[in-house]
Amino acid sequence: MIKNRIVFNDATDWTFDLEKAEGSYLWTKDDKKLIDFTCAWNVTNLGWNNSEINQAISGQLSKNVHNILWSSDEIQIAYAKALTEALPKSLDTISRATGGTEANEEALKTARAFTGRKKIIGFKNTYHGQSFGVMAIGYRPEYVEAIAPLVPEFIQMDFPRLQKDKTPEEVLKNFAEELEMLLSQKDIAAIVTEAGIITGWGSTYVAPKGYLKLVRELTEKYGTLLILDEVGTGFSRLGKLFGMELENVVPDIVTFAKASCNGAGTIGTMVTRKEIIETTLGKTNLTSTFGWNPLSCAAALKTLEIHKRDRVWEKAEKDGQYLIRTLETKLVNNPKVNDIRGIGMEIGLELVDGDAAKTLVNQAFANGLHLVIGDGGNIQIMPPLVIDRKLLDEGINIIVKLLSL
Ligand SMILES: Cc1ncc(COP(=O)(O)O)c(C=O)c1O
Repeated sequence: MIKNRIVFNDATDWTFDLEKAEGSYLWTKDDKKLIDFTCAWNVTNLGWNNSEINQAISGQLSKNVHNILWSSDEIQIAYAKALTEALPKSLDTISRATGGTEANEEALKTARAFTGRKKIIGFKNTYHGQSFGVMAIGYRPEYVEAIAPLVPEFIQMDFPRLQKDKTPEEVLKNFAEELEMLLSQKDIAAIVTEAGIITGWGSTYVAPKGYLKLVRELTEKYGTLLILDEVGTGFSRLGKLFGMELENVVPDIVTFAKASCNGAGTIGTMVTRKEIIETTLGKTNLTSTFGWNPLSCAAALKTLEIHKRDRVWEKAEKDGQYLIRTLETKLVNNPKVNDIRGIGMEIGLELVDGDAAKTLVNQAFANGLHLVIGDGGNIQIMPPLVIDRKLLDEGINIIVKLLSL
């Protein structure tokens, strides 16, 4: 679609003009007020136009707004320190980027350069960004025929998601066998995964508990790097500051973007071990002219500070459980609902098909609730983590009322 001379992704067949946004509300140009259950897809976790974050940007505006590739601004140094201190000790070195695509692309290149291996494992129907390399991780070849070939030597596995007709143990066991068969060839540079849930593609598929630990153990055993894409899961979304904490797993490389600066800038980050960067410098290229722009870093530093100060993940975990429980209770036996699942405040409400999801999203919009369709019939619910309970209830009630028509 093209509107106002702007191109929208082909997957989008509706759009609206945004007038302003604040906290958990959006206002359209034609003065419609909406409760937001999307966070612009996991970005504005601390609420839209968070005043503390905006003030941090104002402060930085009077100091410096651009960095030089061969220099580092004071605010970048401060953010590098704060971010690495919030992570497990071994993740001590950052590379600057502008968003998730770029950070993930850096991770793929670093993994190949470090291991000397070419193959990379990803999962079918996952989204890690829009460049050739990251699309090769999870896009089905039939979806990208027009731009093929992507990058060779990528292997796509089925994501080991919880299913009604299988026990979690069965799912995990089958996956472990398949993964070990691939890794034991000792020619896989890296496996790329999110932290036990697919957020990027919008399926909200959840893996059994133990998934991350299993991947970590097997990758370590066969010299394969574990790249954890925390672009969607990071910054309290899953009820932990970072998704890796769900199973206390330490990846070799982790990437962040989206909620890092709460939408108050553009930022992407690859974090890894010093040793990995020292071995690969000069063998790859991590140059990013606008990576870690000082204004975005000021926003990111304040964002991280607020998450830690307010322990935002604790509220996210509680609200997420409440959201799932309430939807399950109120929609039990509803014939339009296939499944309700999720982790923290990343909730999938899967309807019977895409048409049912489209109808709900359109009706919700007309009734003052902003929802977004993920994969197929799945609506991926991602409210601001600071939303108050009354507003959360209002949004839930709109969904329940519309699905009961
Ligand atoms: C899990 C995940 N990884 C990576 C990306 C790409 O990030 P960006 O749009 O900042 O390039 C996205 C974007 O939706 C995502 O959801």
